[in-house]
Amino acid sequence: MTGIAVLGSTNMDLVVRVARAPGPGETVTGRELRTVPGGKGANQAVAAARAGADVIMIGAVGDDEYGARLRSNLEHAGIDTDLLHTTEGPSGTAHIVVDDTGANSIVVIPGANGTVTALGPGEMAAIAGAELLLLQLELPMSAVIEGARVAHAQGVRTLLTPSPAQPLPSELLDCVDLLIPNEHEAAALTGFTDPHAAARHLLGLVPVVVITLGSRGCLYAARGGEPVLFPAPEVTAVDTTGAGDTFVGTLAVALGERRPVPEALAWASSAAALCVQRPGASTSMPYRGEIDTA
Ligand code: ATP
Ligand code: RIB
Repeated sequence: MTGIAVLGSTNMDLVVRVARAPGPGETVTGRELRTVPGGKGANQAVAAARAGADVIMIGAVGDDEYGARLRSNLEHAGIDTDLLHTTEGPSGTAHIVVDDTGANSIVVIPGANGTVTALGPGEMAAIAGAELLLLQLELPMSAVIEGARVAHAQGVRTLLTPSPAQPLPSELLDCVDLLIPNEHEAAALTGFTDPHAAARHLLGLVPVVVITLGSRGCLYAARGGEPVLFPAPEVTAVDTTGAGDTFVGTLAVALGERRPVPEALAWASSAAALCVQRPGASTSMPYRGEIDTA
C-alpha cells in the first residue's frame, strides 16, 4: 500500500444551495444548509484513502463539536489521525455557495488550521517515512515550507495544490515535484490565462505541472516535453466541491503505485468525474472499486 502523508487543513463545510449565487450587495433565498466534512487537506486524505492508500493526516481541529466530527470522519475513512491535533478554539470552517450548475464559491475561516505554524519531531518523522506528501495552502505558509523541506531532504515526492492562490516562495517551489493548480490558480501564478502558456512558465519553477481545467480535463506538462491535454469524462455535475482534491488524492495513489502517467491521469479524472456527480466534498469521493469500474 502506498504510504501518503497529508499536511493540510480540515474544515467543516457549511454548504448552501441556491439557483444562482448572489452578486455584490444582492440577497437571494437559498434552498438548504448542510454541514459536510471538508478542507482541502482532509479531502485529499479521504480521496487517497478511498483509492487504496495508507494515509496519515497532519494538522489541527478545534475543541468544538465540529472538531470531533471532522476527526471521526477521517477515522471512519481509515486515516491515521494521531498527528491531527486538537487545539483550543473553533475548527476551520468553509462557507460555500453552490449554484444550480454545480459551481461553487467559498470563504474559508482557518480556525484551528491557523495554529499549525511549525512541525514537531513526530510530524517530521511521519513525512520522512511516507512515499508521497500532499500539500495545499490552507495552513500557514511556514508549516507548508517546513513540510516540503523535510520531504525533499528525504526524497519523499511532494505534490502541491497551490490553493487558495497566493505567491509561492522559491524555498517552497524548490522542494515541489508536482504542482497541481486549477486554471485560475495557474493564471494567478503566471499572469497567463492560456493554460499552455501558464504550464510552460510553471515548468521554469517545478519539474512537472498538471493544470486542472474543470469539465475540460487537465493539461499535463513535464520539463523537456510539450503540454498534453487529457480530457475529462462527460458527466452532469451537481456539485464540483472537492473535485480538485479528489483528482489530487487519487493521482497521488496512482503515482505511488508507479502507474504510467497517462493511466494515472485517466484514473484521477474518472474519480473526479464521479465526485462532481454527488453533493458535498468528502462525502462525494469514490472508492477504488468504483473508480476501476467507471
Ligand atoms: P473544486 O475547487 O471545484 O474542487 P478545482 O477548481 O480545484 O475544483 P477543477 O479544475 O474544477 O478543480 O476540477 C478538477 C478536476 O475535476 C478536473 O481536472 C476534472 O478531471 C474534474 N472535473 C471537474 N469538473 C468536472 C465536470 N463538470 N465534469 C467532469 N469532470 C470534472
Ligand atoms: O477544495 C474544496 C475545499 O475547499 C472544501 O471542502 C472547503 O473546505 C475548502 O477548503
